[in-house]
Amino acid sequence: MPCTPFALERWFARHEFSTRWTLSSSDCDGLSQAELLAGADAELRALWDGLRLGYTESAGHPLLRAEVAATYAGVAPDEVQAFVPEEGIYAAMRCLLEPGDRVVCTVPAYQSLYQVAADLGCEVVPWKPREAGGWRFDPDDLAALLRPATRLVVVNFPHNPTGALATRGELERIVELVRARGAWLFSDEMYRGLERDAAERLPSAVERYERAVVLSGVSKTLGLAGLRVGWLVARDAELRARLAAFKDYLTICGSAPSEILALIGLRGREAILARHRERIARNLARLEAFVAGRPATLALSPPRAGPVCFPRLTTREGATALAERAAAAGLLLVPSSVFDWGDAHLRFGLGRESFGEALERFGALL
Ligand SMILES: Cc1ncc(COP(=O)(O)O)c(C=O)c1O
Repeated sequence: MPCTPFALERWFARHEFSTRWTLSSSDCDGLSQAELLAGADAELRALWDGLRLGYTESAGHPLLRAEVAATYAGVAPDEVQAFVPEEGIYAAMRCLLEPGDRVVCTVPAYQSLYQVAADLGCEVVPWKPREAGGWRFDPDDLAALLRPATRLVVVNFPHNPTGALATRGELERIVELVRARGAWLFSDEMYRGLERDAAERLPSAVERYERAVVLSGVSKTLGLAGLRVGWLVARDAELRARLAAFKDYLTICGSAPSEILALIGLRGREAILARHRERIARNLARLEAFVAGRPATLALSPPRAGPVCFPRLTTREGATALAERAAAAGLLLVPSSVFDWGDAHLRFGLGRESFGEALERFGALL
């Protein structure tokens, strides 16, 4: 099986830790360990202090699985399996797909969401959004892409990199279309909880469809990316057994300290999420004012959810050349070329406190 380079991650490998400012990271500012531990309740503090650093349970710490399950309606702890988020994508694709399968995926996308399938020899069909008037994936377009033998539909709401969010009605329609084909639905919900308007938060796909596989984790919304803790939720017991067996060839089990720290973050999630939503709203307002002052340079189709958005560059210089120039000046920008989406957009990340300072650097570069 080939292993096509992951363009976004290779770009980060080159520039993430050699630049001083970032305008393009998709996670919220990382919390400090001291700050996180200060918020631990007595039960978790005792677990942390007494933690032994041996192997952990492959499916995840029972308390972690229970805490995660409680964030979904009607999900039992044993329907949750711990995975590093990116590992979860890989495992799910390997367990669901065979060469020749048809897979429809929202694009532009976090590359592994379709690349693992493509490298496996599947036929990958892109479901593209409309940009004008706000990025939107039209379920009618999905309907036209489905065939009787479609094996899997992959969606990601809130969407990276555009900030698109389906409405509740659109999600119901997507589920209806996928169910009618008997296909699986892989729903990447890494950014769920960071909606502009809390009333727009979608139900999880696993609450709506028995053949949904949901991915989430603590990386983005809780600012705990360095813990490398995430999970898959699936109703189907046979699929869960395959996922468990597949994990034996990947990490086997999670990191003991990370699981406890993730648990502390999850128990304190409402306060952390509120703080991150407030920062994202503040940074988006800043960005909108910045764009309004430069109509000949940038256009922004506003995001509805999540910490990222995808403004269009209207300069003669392409996004990749600009991002290379920015990196040389100490500013991390992600050009749309790494999403295989032309060369006229930049991904902006709104979850960092230093956004204003980075935006000033960007203004100077423009
Ligand atoms: C949509 C999406 N899914 C999954 C991941 C993987 O998350 P992690 O880096 O925590 O493994 C990312 C990371 O950027 C992402 O944007």
